[in-house]
Amino acid sequence: MSLKTLPFSKEQIEEITQKYPTPFHIYDERGMVDNAKKMKKIFDWIPGFKNYYAVKACPNPAILKILEKEGFGADCSSLPELVLADRSGIRGENIMFTSNDTPDEEFIKAKELGAIINLDDITHIEKLEKSAGIPELICFRYNPGSSRQGNIIIGKPEEAKYGLTFDQIMKAYPLAREKGAKRFGLHTMVASNELDSAYFVETARMLFDIAVQLKEKFDIRLEFVNMGGGVGIPYKPEENPVDLAAVSKGMKEAYDKMIVPAGLAPLRIVFECGRVITGPYGYLVTRVRQVAQKYKDYVGVDACMTNLMRPALYGAYHHITIPGKENLKNNHIYDVTGSLCENNDKFAIDRKLPELEEGDLMVIHDTGAHGYAMGFNYNGKLKSAELLLKKDGTVQLIRRAETMDDYFATLDF
Ligand SMILES: Cc1ncc(COP(=O)(O)O)c(C=O)c1O
Repeated sequence: MSLKTLPFSKEQIEEITQKYPTPFHIYDERGMVDNAKKMKKIFDWIPGFKNYYAVKACPNPAILKILEKEGFGADCSSLPELVLADRSGIRGENIMFTSNDTPDEEFIKAKELGAIINLDDITHIEKLEKSAGIPELICFRYNPGSSRQGNIIIGKPEEAKYGLTFDQIMKAYPLAREKGAKRFGLHTMVASNELDSAYFVETARMLFDIAVQLKEKFDIRLEFVNMGGGVGIPYKPEENPVDLAAVSKGMKEAYDKMIVPAGLAPLRIVFECGRVITGPYGYLVTRVRQVAQKYKDYVGVDACMTNLMRPALYGAYHHITIPGKENLKNNHIYDVTGSLCENNDKFAIDRKLPELEEGDLMVIHDTGAHGYAMGFNYNGKLKSAELLLKKDGTVQLIRRAETMDDYFATLDF
């Protein structure tokens, strides 16, 4: 079970909406910081442990700076994300560059910033050599194919476009060394929003096994393994968070059994989680605009897919709280819809909620990762503001809402 509580009262959030009109995302700084500290503590046995926060999850400098203070790095996958990390004060090898189908200019920028470059394809060795030059430290993304199961969001590994096959991995490291690389990392990401702690222990074993093989076959010693992101969160109240203490314990056992006897310790283990770091600490606040009875009952709100794509994209569940009506019976069944001309623009289908009326505030939970960031401007809908609920209880605007001028900025009338 996970409790779906709010870090603000109805009165507080009503007051916030007086200054910042709905819809907006609001992020709970205290929740994020406490969570980051907890993660570091759980993995404190790991030499040089670091989470490179996946910038794509919440690409906002205020969030990156909060995490940087906690010792987190940034995992970037595009030129703007690289620049965002750098401008947020995350520098050099604190940036992991994990891209795919990568243009030369991104390799060039990553190298210029001194980021760790994580290659997604064996042909990228040559591309990187020609564009930016082979850096001293290089990393490869491993795709284990049919030996591992993926999940619904990321797909099966053997059907996923990412990473090098086992045979390619075994060719890539000696080739990179031949071309001048001296330090090596290994990365994988085979699941997304995975809640099973055993899955991550298995991933660690898989990476440790390759570390041992690279040493035995080529005398190549990895400096770090990157477990990727993909640690899930309990979007549904009946789900449990991933037991990170169990992950840590299982990883330590595997490390002691595989890495230490092979003479490969110390081996850094890093992650690039986004969702589990900020996801539960973001809330999409929206207001009920209409309640309509058709063949079903619909609650139309002032947010839409522009603000949160996950329900429409993956059928994802996001919990909903109606501030002030928490103690009423959930005795009405509604589809909660946005205003796009797309019938899948729904935040919830057949959701049991208390009776709703025009003007009610609605809070959609767990939007702190892959929420705001995924939005698009279809139908000319403008992206919302992002707010930070600071530790001292004050609210800071960390991204203003888009205006029509922003929307028209790329057009020539
Ligand atoms: C390469 C890579 N790393 C990390 C992440 C972060 O995943 P999550 O936010 O689920 O931890 C993603 C998400 O898409 C990704 O593609």
